[in-house]
Amino acid sequence: MKKTVLSLGLLLAASFVSADNIRPESSVEYRQSAFRLMEFQLNVLNPMHRSQAYSEEAFAYRADTLSRLGALAHEGFTEESRNIDSRALSRVWDSREDFDQRMQTFIEITANMAEASKAGNNRETRDLFRQTLQSCRSCHDQYRLD
Ligand code: HEC
Repeated sequence: MKKTVLSLGLLLAASFVSADNIRPESSVEYRQSAFRLMEFQLNVLNPMHRSQAYSEEAFAYRADTLSRLGALAHEGFTEESRNIDSRALSRVWDSREDFDQRMQTFIEITANMAEASKAGNNRETRDLFRQTLQSCRSCHDQYRLD
């Protein structure tokens, strides 16, 4: 159910961003801004992870925020922005299905992490946090210029 709602949201969002009045340069700025905000969330979550504060309200809030930012970042990878200078490799568009799947997985892992945190399930939250970091890293290895 949640999955359907998320992908519907993505579809709607994607059609807004590819509207004619949005310049491809703006899509690049849009996604890069979302990624920078993601880094901010991690800077808050990392020390909480070290002190195992998984059930804190702030942890769930940051996890939810990461999930929403994942959807925003995804929106910015429009067809039109393909040839605009950025750190996104052309592989993003050449292997579109895999890239979209990775973004979707990131959105789901972080949403599940927020749920696990709210439920007070520390072990699951910790595992999902590790998967989140892995998801950032492995996507950058494949799709981002160093
Ligand atoms: C599914 C792929 C994917 C995932 C998941 C992902 N990233 Fe990225 N990230 C990218 C790509 C591609 C770029 C390059 C975007 C560009 O230059 O337009 C990028 C760029 C960035 C940037 C640089 C933004 C800038 O100022 O130009 C930061 C910071 C960043 N990501 C942080 C993160 C963090 C933190 C996570 C995990 C919490 C994450 N990313 C998850 C693909 C991903």
